[in-house]
Amino acid sequence: MRIRFTATAVFTAAMLCTTTGLLGAQQKSVDKSQPWMNPQLSPEKRAELVLQQMTFDEKISMLHGEGMAGSKNLHPEFQKVHELFNGGAGLVITPTRLGIPMIQMSDAAYGVRDSAMNGRYSTALPSNLASAASWDPQAACSYGTLIGRELRAQGYNMTLGGGVNLTREPRNGRTFEYMGEDPVLAGTLVGNRIRCEGAQHVISDIKHYAMNDQESGRQEIDARIGERALRESDLLAFQIGVKTGHPDAVMCSYNGVNGDYACENRYLLTDVLKKEWNFPGFVVSDWGGTHSTEKASAAGLDNEEEWASFYGDSLKAAVQAGRVPMTEIDDHVRRILWAEFASGIVDDPPRKGVVDVQAGFDTSRHIAEQGSVLLRNERNLLPLDSAKLQSVAVIGFHADTGMISGGGSAQVDAPGDQAGGEWKRKVWFPTSPLEALRAKAPGAKFSFVSGENIAQAVAQAKAADVAVVFAWQWEAEDFDLPNLSLPNEQDKLIEAVTAANPRTVVVLETGTAVTMPWLEKTGAVLEAWFAGSKGADAVANLLFGDVNPSGKLPMTFPRSEADLPRPTVAKPPAGSKNGTLSFKVDYSEGVKVGYKWYDAEHKPVLFPFGFGLSYTSYSYSGLTVSPDGSSVSFTVANTGHRAGAEIAEVYASLPESAGEPPKRLIGWQKVELAAGESKFIRLAIDPTYLSIWDEVAKKFVRPSGSYRVMVGGSSAELPLTKEISLQ
Ligand code: BGC
Repeated sequence: MRIRFTATAVFTAAMLCTTTGLLGAQQKSVDKSQPWMNPQLSPEKRAELVLQQMTFDEKISMLHGEGMAGSKNLHPEFQKVHELFNGGAGLVITPTRLGIPMIQMSDAAYGVRDSAMNGRYSTALPSNLASAASWDPQAACSYGTLIGRELRAQGYNMTLGGGVNLTREPRNGRTFEYMGEDPVLAGTLVGNRIRCEGAQHVISDIKHYAMNDQESGRQEIDARIGERALRESDLLAFQIGVKTGHPDAVMCSYNGVNGDYACENRYLLTDVLKKEWNFPGFVVSDWGGTHSTEKASAAGLDNEEEWASFYGDSLKAAVQAGRVPMTEIDDHVRRILWAEFASGIVDDPPRKGVVDVQAGFDTSRHIAEQGSVLLRNERNLLPLDSAKLQSVAVIGFHADTGMISGGGSAQVDAPGDQAGGEWKRKVWFPTSPLEALRAKAPGAKFSFVSGENIAQAVAQAKAADVAVVFAWQWEAEDFDLPNLSLPNEQDKLIEAVTAANPRTVVVLETGTAVTMPWLEKTGAVLEAWFAGSKGADAVANLLFGDVNPSGKLPMTFPRSEADLPRPTVAKPPAGSKNGTLSFKVDYSEGVKVGYKWYDAEHKPVLFPFGFGLSYTSYSYSGLTVSPDGSSVSFTVANTGHRAGAEIAEVYASLPESAGEPPKRLIGWQKVELAAGESKFIRLAIDPTYLSIWDEVAKKFVRPSGSYRVMVGGSSAELPLTKEISLQ
């Protein structure tokens, strides 16, 4: 279990008295005939009715957390509170005497975290980035539905999932927790995940708002970026996520944005989120991400997590001294109450139950299949033909037993894990690539080596028809990768194996892009990301053609770190501490995130955004664009001999005068096609996606002039183009 602060240092005796008093009040039973318990009333009305009944102490109690479950070194008195924990990352004590349930929060990036602590089990889905590679809102919805159900089965009523920071820095250790580099793709998918997670009746969340785009010095970094660039990139992803998913909570991030910490940033929290986007829910700080009382409260932070360093006694005193108006407190409380009613946790509280393990496996495998990306397939090495295959060399660290997962607060415990695992450890999920492949070709001879001894791996590869190398790159919260190379000399291993056997398939288990010095020598490369509980079955289904690959990259794979906007990750100066924005990162690339950067800078890439191969082929024809730019139509045909699903991508370049990068994604559709089949596609285009942020008018405006609409199967291959003039 991770401990960031010791509770004894944080809690004062006065705080304990307040909390203990509130705990006493909880014993009373709830009168269901109270007017706010009427589900026919709106969440706004119900929240207002409850607010009128609450004492000042009850209000303050709702505005902060109680530490993390399982934290050690607690003040003995505080133990009373800890008995109330369901076992997650946060607890908010509410007036249960009024029927308002305590908020039990759990991390749930790709599954419910820390289940081992409760002696429970949860499904590990593929990483969020893998699900983004499906480009499929329906897959994102199943992702959210599963997590929502499993949270409830463990007794949680709030998720801390929904990460959507843009991949500005591919070495960011949390890239796997996010949805890639494009704001429209990332925002749409996270929105669908949140929508469906919330529909299970949990308080849903989007995070980390905003510009938490690297982990190095995350609590000291001040992200500097111009308003227009911010609105068209990172904030656009959140805007779409909020509009699509209607999260009940927004988690503000650790870092600063343009001079103010995100959790006390009036521009972000009030001007944009609450006023412009009309967000009705509450803002919760990242754990230890609150830095003030009055400033944060006035800026729009509603709930401090994980403790009460600024929102317990200090907030109470500030109100009593008239430094924080009661109306501000009421607004914070009202928003949290609103979230409780709107999410459904008051009327339909979670009931603990047994997770449907098989349903979890099916969903996890299906998403892994949809999100894996076939990057290379020379001379149709894939799909493997089980009837012809005589021998296979499986090579890779733990490739006989498991596949790696992403770490940090996202970490899902693997079956067999014990409670309280250390914060930074690599977890291989028990999904065996060797066994899954063997099951596909029972007649073939399989060998396995870990690859640590390269000579041994080469010998095995030489002796086999096909070599399959499983390569990994581990990522986690709290640190960034030093570079984009595979660790532990795996490049050397792959180099040697491919030299020994050109019929080598490389399966990548990575959290972000990797460089591939060996690429040209390989037969095939499949990017499987962190593939979840059933990753090996998904990979086997793809390699043997039971499933036709359809995933496309949600982020560019650059040729080298030298091509990134920043050749090295910015680091904080020595001695920096949380609480001071001690270093600035000037995001001078602005809106040019990912492919927009490489396009504008004319930098060739290893694999472009939106790229992914299939075992069939597709062609595009007949592009028309409506005169007002509101819709695009075209036909996609499957020109090969297998059924498949093509993600048809639509980009636009804006008029020259707009000064935008060469192109931006404005829409897409995943199209299922039988062999030889074609389909006519018509896509509505959101006018915002053809717009730029006007810093004077403070809104998105569509510039007049000539637009080019481009359609195809990757950002770098767009066979259909059409110019239109929009006024
Ligand atoms: C992470 C959040 C997480 C929280 C609670 C923080 O370290 O940044 O994403 O939800 O911890 O575990």
